[in-house]
Amino acid sequence: MKICCIGAGYVGGPTMAMIAKNCVDSKVTVVDLNQERIDSWNSDDLPIYEPGLLEVVKAARGRNLFFSTEIDQTIQDSDIIFISVNTPTKDYGSGKGRAADLRFVESCARNIAKVGGGNKIVVEKSTVPVRTAQMVKEILGESNNGFSYQVLSNPEFLAEGTAIADLENPDRVLIGGDQSKEGLEAIEKVVSLYNQWIDRENIITTNLWSSELSKLTANAFLAQRISSINAISALCEATGADVDEVANAIGTDSRIGPKFLKSSVGFGGSCFQKDILNLSYLCQHFGLPEVAEYWDQVVRMNDYQKDRFVQRIMDAMFNTVSGKKIAILGFAFKKDTNDARESPAIAVCSRLLDERAHLAIYDPQVPKDTILSSLRLDANDKRVSFHDCATDAANGTHAIALLTEWDEFKKLNLKEIYAEMEKPAHFFDGRNLIDPIEVQNAGFRLHRIGKG
Ligand code: NAD
Ligand code: UGA
Repeated sequence: MKICCIGAGYVGGPTMAMIAKNCVDSKVTVVDLNQERIDSWNSDDLPIYEPGLLEVVKAARGRNLFFSTEIDQTIQDSDIIFISVNTPTKDYGSGKGRAADLRFVESCARNIAKVGGGNKIVVEKSTVPVRTAQMVKEILGESNNGFSYQVLSNPEFLAEGTAIADLENPDRVLIGGDQSKEGLEAIEKVVSLYNQWIDRENIITTNLWSSELSKLTANAFLAQRISSINAISALCEATGADVDEVANAIGTDSRIGPKFLKSSVGFGGSCFQKDILNLSYLCQHFGLPEVAEYWDQVVRMNDYQKDRFVQRIMDAMFNTVSGKKIAILGFAFKKDTNDARESPAIAVCSRLLDERAHLAIYDPQVPKDTILSSLRLDANDKRVSFHDCATDAANGTHAIALLTEWDEFKKLNLKEIYAEMEKPAHFFDGRNLIDPIEVQNAGFRLHRIGKG
């Protein structure tokens, strides 16, 4: 089979590399408008940092995996086209700040209709509002090019930082399609791809709308667990309970389970907030305001948690950080990625800058330019400095705010770092990552999420 994937991002790149690795009889071409990104996929300096990704790419690249900007030609030549473009929150017009912006998906559908080349299966890989496939079908159905199209939904559930393991051994693959003869045949074709390395019982097939909605629902449920434990973390701080002990106690209940109960400075990433806002917008649209409000609260709690973290810094540092220097350890939204989209670090740093703090920032993978643009700062801004290691960033600061759970932070020489800081020196652990005894023995005043 000839496969095209439109969109060479965090999903398109790794997902297609895994398909190419396992489906050696298929030719997989990932296309993108962004030449720089494609050049980077064709080098050993991949555009995204993801453990194990380079090995998978190298195993297939040039054999049956290709990266290209020849979008029309690749579409024309392919039997299956995955749409894996970004679907950000709309930042203009109706639904601004809530609805998903589907203009990139729509433009892919129009392009497929225009280019033609034969009967094709078009697969939504991007996360989209339920019933988006209807729009794609209508655009393709009216193309008048004489070819027929089957539209499927195959949402992606990988998490950044663990993408390769998630793709190699997913909890499930979900494929939705029309329940007509042609629809079911198309579903089976895509099933046969995944089935080359994933057991058939882990491949779920549904109708189109269930598949589209399951993706938004999965993200909403995951984010809801984090907001739930973060809500409890505030109560723990007020009462002397310990949020990790509470999480452990409830997580042993097999009906609740232990995962996604780590309280933190808040969830980040390009998807949780966007997908919940979109879910809530859809509920409003379908006349279900109570349901919309229920899910909105998950995002509100997340904003509250980020605010609370900064408030804790302010309270501990005698109600002012003006002119004080604070080390920011970690800017990525989680460990093992160079992605800072919607990272809680953005909200925390922006508020500290509003309070006139100076920030000394270190992240092992997020480039300086990404940090500057996330904070809307220009390169000459004297209020921020960038460092090559945590020790260097902390030098001469009044406090450390640990915002990403990078493994290397667990090995910091705290005594050495403390010695070079202004006193009293504070340590704000937004991930409850580092052994509290060690931090206190080093001399720090320690402040952790969910601890009194
Ligand atoms: P991304 O921004 O990293 O990549 C999207 C790519 O699409 C960009 O490189 C962009 O240039 C390209 N593009 C946009 N319009 C195009 C067009 N018309 N033709 C060709 N290329 C075009 O986005 P991402 O993080 O890979 O996310 C893609 C989708 O997958 C989103 O809907 C997201 O919600 C979903 N998703 C993301 C993750 C994740 O971990 N990032 C996980 C699961 C699902
Ligand atoms: C999430 C989902 O886990 C994926 O299944 C989904 O495919 C993806 O969104 C998506 O649709 O984009 P991702 O955002 O990459 O994946 O990473 P997660 O591991 O889910 O972490 C998200 C955020 O929640 C991070 O900021 C993380 O630090 C935070 N988190 C996670 C917590 O604060 N506590 C936890 O217990 C778990």
